[in-house]
Amino acid sequence: MVKKVKVGIVGLGRLGRQHAENLAFRIPNCELTAVCSVIEAEITEIQEKWQIPYGYTSYDEMLTNKELDAIFIASPSGFHCDQIIKALDAGFHVFSEKPLGLYLEEALEVQKAVEKHADKVFMLGFMRRYDRSYAAAKQKIENGDIGEPTLIRCYGLDPASQMDNFLKFAKANYSGGLFLDMSVHDFDLARWYMGTEAQEVWAIGGAYSRPEFEDIQDAETGAAMVRFENNAIGIFVAGRNSAHGYHIETEIIGTKGSIRIGTLPERDQIVLMQENGAVKECYDGFLERFEQAFSSEVEEFAHCILEGKKPDVTVHDGVESTRLGYACKKSFETRQLVNIQAEQLVKN
Ligand SMILES: NC(=O)c1ccc[n+]([C@@H]2O[C@H](COP(=O)([O-])OP(=O)(O)OC[C@H]3O[C@@H](n4cnc5c(N)ncnc54)[C@H](O)[C@@H]3O)[C@@H](O)[C@H]2O)c1
Repeated sequence: MVKKVKVGIVGLGRLGRQHAENLAFRIPNCELTAVCSVIEAEITEIQEKWQIPYGYTSYDEMLTNKELDAIFIASPSGFHCDQIIKALDAGFHVFSEKPLGLYLEEALEVQKAVEKHADKVFMLGFMRRYDRSYAAAKQKIENGDIGEPTLIRCYGLDPASQMDNFLKFAKANYSGGLFLDMSVHDFDLARWYMGTEAQEVWAIGGAYSRPEFEDIQDAETGAAMVRFENNAIGIFVAGRNSAHGYHIETEIIGTKGSIRIGTLPERDQIVLMQENGAVKECYDGFLERFEQAFSSEVEEFAHCILEGKKPDVTVHDGVESTRLGYACKKSFETRQLVNIQAEQLVKN
C-alpha cells in the first residue's frame, strides 16, 4: 500500500476549511490527521463530521504529535513565518499559505530555516502556477510563442460582496495591505513568466467607496507600476470593490505576440438571455475560480514528500514576492518611487 502523508492543519477559516476538506477527501496521498484553530467550535465541528483523530487549540501542542508528517498553515498572514519556523524545527514538512511574510526580515528568517532543514519539503501556496490556464501560458512562453515577454498586466479584484466581511476582520487579521495580500500572487506570476526581478516600483491607491480603508491605512483599490531588472514592465491593479464578482486577469505582451488569461471571469458556458440583454455570470470568489489549482498544488506537495523531490515554488519565490509587496506598501504610504534593490526595506 502507498504511504499516505499524515497532515495537521492550522487555520480553519475561509480557505483553511477548504484545504482541510481537500486533504481529508480529495488528495489521494494525504490523510488529514489533526486540525488546529483558536476557535474551538471549528475544531469540534470538523473532527466530528469527518472523524479526524486530533484537535488542538494550541499550535505548539499540535507540533508535539509525532504521528504527523507535515504541517499545513492556513492561519492569518501575520502568523505564517513564526509557525513555519516552529514546524520545520520540530521536524515536519511544511506547506504555508501566501504571503510568506508581511516583512522582509521575517521572510529572510524563514529562508534560513528552510535552508537549515534541507531534508524537509517546504512549499508556498502560489496555487495559480498549478491552474491549468496559467500553467499552459507558462509553457507557451517557454516555447517562444510570444517572443521575449516585455510587459505583464495583472488585475486582482475581489468581489464587492465580500467588502463588509473584509473590513470587519481587517484590523484583527492584519493582511499586510492590498498589495501584499492580493497582488502577491501577481508578483509571483510576473517573476515566473518574465524570469527577472523587480527593480523599481511606484504604487498608488485610495479609498473610493468606503472611507474605512483610510482608517486602517490601506487602499480599497490600488495600482503599482514596476520596472524589472531586464527593463520589462509590470502593471498591477488590485481592488476589493468589483461589482461583477471575482476577477483575476493576466496579460503578457511579448515581442512576437501576447497571451491573455481570464479576460472575462465567466463561471460557466451559460449565457442568460432576457429582456435586459445577454448575461454571463462571473466567479464569486477564489474557491470557485481556483478549485482545481487548490487541489493540484497539494497533490504536488504530497508527491514531493513521497518521492523526495523539491517543489517548483521555493522559499526564494516567497522572499522576493514579499520584498516586492512590501516595497509597494512603502511606495503607497510614502507616495515615493521605491528602488527595491537599493532601499532598506525594513519594518517601520
Ligand atoms: N491562495 C489564495 O488565493 C488565498 C485566498 C484566501 C486566503 N489566503 C491566505 O490564507 C490565510 C488564511 O486566510 P483566511 O481568509 O482563510 O482567514 P480566516 O480569517 O478566514 O481564517 C483564519 C483561521 O485561522 C485561525 N487562527 C487565527 N489565529 C490563529 C493562531 N494564532 N493559531 C491558530 N489558528 C489561528 C482562525 O481561528 C481561523 O480558523 C491567509 O494568510 C491568506 O492570505 C490565500
